[in-house]
Amino acid sequence: MTFPDTFLWGTATAAHQVEGGNTASDFWAMEHAPGSLFAEPSGDACDHYRLFRDDLALLAGLGFTAYRFSIEWARVEPEDGVFSRAAIAHYRDVLAACHEFGLTPMVTLHHFTSPRWLMRYGGWEYAGTPERFAAYCRAVLAELGDSVPYVCTINEANIGPLLRGMLGISGDGAPVGIDLGGQDWRRPAAEALATTPDKLNPFLFTFSDAGIAVVKQAHMAAREAIRAVSPASQVGITLSLQDFQPLPGATEIADRMWAEQFEEYLPALQGDDFLGVQNYCRARIGTEGILPQPADAELTQAGYEYYPQALEPVLRRAATAGLPLFVTENGIATADDDRRVAFIETALDGVGRALADGVDIRGYFYWSALDNFEWMLGYTPRFGLIAVDRETQRRTPKNSAYHLGAVAGRHRRIRS
Ligand code: BGC
Repeated sequence: MTFPDTFLWGTATAAHQVEGGNTASDFWAMEHAPGSLFAEPSGDACDHYRLFRDDLALLAGLGFTAYRFSIEWARVEPEDGVFSRAAIAHYRDVLAACHEFGLTPMVTLHHFTSPRWLMRYGGWEYAGTPERFAAYCRAVLAELGDSVPYVCTINEANIGPLLRGMLGISGDGAPVGIDLGGQDWRRPAAEALATTPDKLNPFLFTFSDAGIAVVKQAHMAAREAIRAVSPASQVGITLSLQDFQPLPGATEIADRMWAEQFEEYLPALQGDDFLGVQNYCRARIGTEGILPQPADAELTQAGYEYYPQALEPVLRRAATAGLPLFVTENGIATADDDRRVAFIETALDGVGRALADGVDIRGYFYWSALDNFEWMLGYTPRFGLIAVDRETQRRTPKNSAYHLGAVAGRHRRIRS
């Protein structure tokens, strides 16, 4: 399989899932409120805020050439309009370490978590959020832009329609199918965030049409702000895309879901430099929507079907955006690392075939570098190439880390 010499071989993380102690974020409060939807709180996570240099050295030593991580808005702007020079200096150190170790950084400016104060205004349904988000992006890129070649504004910007499709939620945000464990978590979480339940609209739980529009506007406002202060940084967004496989009679509904989750975002992406594609599985579509997994399906720890073949068709379809693509996330939660190796091999075979057919794919970032905080599921699912003992914070690379690192390392040697 031939990959271009410039192809980025990376792993990905997100601030809240690895840094630890993200106390100024909405998620921290939600994790600790009575009736929380979270299996356990994020706590110290992987203490990556302190151990980032060791982690980056480890990844570079394994052979990787790139690292995707997120900057935490809640740290940079812990109170409305109050920017932390210390937090920005921390991320300057992370970027410097990436360059020192030969890892091309790809920075994400929003990966699910937001500052607590945003929930006082209405979170991701508040019409002023795009402007606030853009102000934060401007502050970060004005300081750090010189060391940021690639920047993703918002991670999985299409989470609203994606979750609607998975949970069966109507346009006004009301659950019509399975809901998120009832609404009992809302009032205590709102109290913890000094807001009211109607204003508590965290990014991950906002499915309304209003919320979807806010996210698109936030991306466009952020892109403009970034361009103004850091014109050399390439700007994109990431979308979570599934391989929709319609059963007979369900093509129309599958097409409608693809339109809602992909095509309707394209106008907001006009002027972007790249598109980040995130894929974990397929979705079989029946006339009522997404079907349960087949009875004999191999399920991963995150509850997804093992289906690494999904990445290739998703990339081919995403190419219709007319933008260079990066696989910004692809991975598997499993305790069986042999399955992870097999997953990666199958997924990369698909990337190679798409590349050979001329699809412009510029890099592959495995999710995730470390076993980390898998949101509502806590620390049980293991997505990492590197195991983390959370008592001692000791890191142990798995076979899959050596495997993918060796593929990456061959290219690292060619590049240097
Ligand atoms: C998210 C990650 C998450 C991963 C695995 C993606 O939706 O961007 O934060 O950990 O999927 O579920």
